[in-house]
Amino acid sequence: YQTSAAQTPPMGWNPWNAFHTDVDEAKIRAVARTIVDSGLARKGYRFINIDDGWALRRLADGRLRIRDSMFPSAKIPASDTGSFKPFTDYIHSLGLKAGLYTDIGRNTCAQVWDANSPNLPVGTVAERQVGSFGHAAQDMRTMFADWRFDYVKIDACGVADYTRDVAPVKAGDYQAFAPLIVRGNIPESDPASVEKLYATLGDAVRRWGGEAAVLSICAWGEALSPLWGHVRGNLWRTSPDIEFTWKSMLGNIDSMVDGALYAGPGHWNDPDMLAIGHGDFDATHLVEARSHFTMWAIMASPLLLGYDVRKPAPALLDIVGNPEVIAIDQDAAGNQGVPYRDGDAMVVVRTLTSPGARAVAMFNRGTEPVTAQVRWEQLGFAPGSRATVRDVWARRNRATAAGTITAELPAHGAVLLRVEGTPADPDTVPLDEMPARV
Ligand code: GLA
Repeated sequence: YQTSAAQTPPMGWNPWNAFHTDVDEAKIRAVARTIVDSGLARKGYRFINIDDGWALRRLADGRLRIRDSMFPSAKIPASDTGSFKPFTDYIHSLGLKAGLYTDIGRNTCAQVWDANSPNLPVGTVAERQVGSFGHAAQDMRTMFADWRFDYVKIDACGVADYTRDVAPVKAGDYQAFAPLIVRGNIPESDPASVEKLYATLGDAVRRWGGEAAVLSICAWGEALSPLWGHVRGNLWRTSPDIEFTWKSMLGNIDSMVDGALYAGPGHWNDPDMLAIGHGDFDATHLVEARSHFTMWAIMASPLLLGYDVRKPAPALLDIVGNPEVIAIDQDAAGNQGVPYRDGDAMVVVRTLTSPGARAVAMFNRGTEPVTAQVRWEQLGFAPGSRATVRDVWARRNRATAAGTITAELPAHGAVLLRVEGTPADPDTVPLDEMPARV
């Protein structure tokens, strides 16, 4: 998938982790203002995305009607669909960019998984098919050419064969309730068919959104997008939805390790949105929040905030706003870090653009203190050479080092270093000294 979009991993905010479908325009606008006022926008957080829940129904002519009870500015007299143009105009007026959500299938993930959501599509079975299956060109034209979005996240929930009744949704939003019977969109939910649906959508995104439109693929599990995502989009999910637990976060890191060679400008493994601000990563767990952010940055992951940034939490802001950590995530060469592991000690080395520069994350997966070490061979540095070492969280330089760098890591702790040294001639690195993969 070759466009000029997402030359570095996308950064921004998505409402899902904080609000699920219980989101509305007032919240999103206020978040966007906070992103600007807090200085996060200046640091690179640009995309303000809308996730699942915005579509009310599909009209008989195939157009999508916006849930304007949730997005009042979308209500346009004499329009039976409404328009997001006032919303995107507002986001653009703040110097930000806007994203929207859809699905390759007939239905969205909340429709499939979240029967209790207060904001499911309403109407007849046909009207509730708000996913983009069979409407690729029409939907992408509407989203990009008419509504002026800059980014689309395309989910893959509505593809499997299943039949299910959905409980009645909020009174007033629906009439003539009929049980939702969802037929599979494609004969089998196999990776090739899923990939084909993304290819069709991708053509439409390029046609109507142009070169700069970002296409975010949200398909994992059976759909296996980690194997073909780079051909069909700018970023592709490698894991299940992040839960707000340490264990889930570890699983999402591990999910992207095998895809390191697919990452690069325009193409990113996506271990999901940040869980910072929630659960094991809330403002009472700053060590964990810092480690989570360290790992996303060293792995060149998209940085999509998922907490309610309107609630002031200066300590979290210091973490997600650390400019040196962001600079590592956004390094122009776009190399994903390559990890190796010794028990709970994990060391990830990322080659940066500037010659001889490496980012090194040392990370403790477990709850006992560990010592982690990185050796010159693993950094590709000439034997006997010295290197400068900057601790980017402490924001100070360490003493220069030679041969090895060691860090003592508390439970769940991480150290992130920017190291500048003298590269060895690559041909002199013996193969058995090359960093091993996890
Ligand atoms: C899936 C995605 C989430 C979110 C929800 C919306 O679970 O992985 O990121 O978009 O759908 O229903």
